Amino acid sequence: MTHVLVIGAGGVGSVAVHKMAMNKGIFPKITLASRRKFKCDAIAQSVLARTGVTIDTAEVDADDAAATAALIRRIGASHVVNLALPYQDLTIMDACLETGAHYLDTANYEPRDEAKFEYHWQWAYHDRFKDAGLMALLGSGFDPGVTSVFTMWLKKHHFARIDTLDILDCNGGDHGQHFATNFNPEINIREVTAPARHWENGAWVETPAMSIKQKFDFEAVGEKTMYLMYHEELESLAKHLPEIKRARFWMTFGEQYITHLTVLQNVGMTRIDPVIYEGREIVPLQFLKAVLPEPSSLGETTKGKTNIGVIATGVGHDGAAKTLYLYNICDHEDAYAETGNQAVSYTTGVPAMIGAAMMVSGTWSGAGVFNMEEMDPDPFMDMLNQHGLPWQWRELPAPLDF
Ligand SMILES: NC(=O)c1ccc[n+]([C@@H]2O[C@H](COP(=O)([O-])OP(=O)(O)OC[C@H]3O[C@@H](n4cnc5c(N)ncnc54)[C@H](OP(=O)(O)O)[C@@H]3O)[C@@H](O)[C@H]2O)c1
Repeated sequence: MTHVLVIGAGGVGSVAVHKMAMNKGIFPKITLASRRKFKCDAIAQSVLARTGVTIDTAEVDADDAAATAALIRRIGASHVVNLALPYQDLTIMDACLETGAHYLDTANYEPRDEAKFEYHWQWAYHDRFKDAGLMALLGSGFDPGVTSVFTMWLKKHHFARIDTLDILDCNGGDHGQHFATNFNPEINIREVTAPARHWENGAWVETPAMSIKQKFDFEAVGEKTMYLMYHEELESLAKHLPEIKRARFWMTFGEQYITHLTVLQNVGMTRIDPVIYEGREIVPLQFLKAVLPEPSSLGETTKGKTNIGVIATGVGHDGAAKTLYLYNICDHEDAYAETGNQAVSYTTGVPAMIGAAMMVSGTWSGAGVFNMEEMDPDPFMDMLNQHGLPWQWRELPAPLDF
């Protein structure tokens, strides 16, 4: 029987299990496990209250592959949805190989001591998953995840060739706090403070973090300043769609966020190397995470919308040059009303549920390690429309002028 084990009881895990419970026909048995069981139990109570579905809960340290394998074996999970942190990707993949379970995640592996966002560690598992007849689906969140599916849908239906791709991630939500991050603060700040990188003419171009910015008028949000950043789907898209001459990723940040982040960086609070404090080692960024609001606590106060999408230029099947914009708008308050979590968790947890649905239904299948852009985008796009993340697209009069 299909039995999905979701690991990680944060905002994303919470949305994913709520949405799975709402689709009992696809997910007949669900277990939520995390480092601290009480967090799983609180989510299970909310799932029961909102959907009438009972899910099982368990405690696991997913840094420990043997303990994770023991849990998978004990409950008989057929699929593992990893919504813990990127540090756990490899141990959970090891546990899946050991027990014969399929694997899905939303963020690529990162070593704890270096903010390096690269797929090679996980791509190296391809042959082992293939030989075991198992599927591992990497990056089934929004970005990475839906952004790759959007790109492949444009390619399949509208472009003979894509020349340039810009991924635009705007969070127009206001949580009313001086400084907070919308997903795990440690992962978020590592990502934002890393040098920017984009793909151009077959090579990576590196620029200092947050040094290139542009204004863009986002539908349903308004004009925002967005910053050039590195994001992991650029690597997999450059590999799987080598025709792309330039691929960039942009994310919006408000003045207040940038000011706080600059100060925190200047005083050393975003360092990821250990320092000695009162005779013991602590990592400043991990300490900072402990004093910042938990992202899952922001839902109640966050108002506004997210708008995340892709702009592609290229040549259509008719030979004409065109620029197409495909995006989703998600409302923080609607997301909270439905699942008790704000839109950043919602826009990640729903695609995680859909990716898992693609796998358990056999709509997407294969043996080995796969990125989202290797799969048929159409059934995933249909489910986005049906499960709370409707999308729209339009032709722009001209390519971006930056
Ligand atoms: N692709 C996308 O669009 C996208 C967007 C946002 C986030 N993400 C990814 O989604 C994941 C979850 O994000 P989030 O915002 O939900 O983070 P979060 O709120 O920090 O939740 C992470 C959860 O994982 C648990 N965990 C951490 N280490 C663990 C371990 N060793 N064993 C078992 N459980 C462990 C945490 O337990 P505790 O509660 O005990 O700390 C927490 O419940 C992250 O990997 C993030 O990078 C992807």
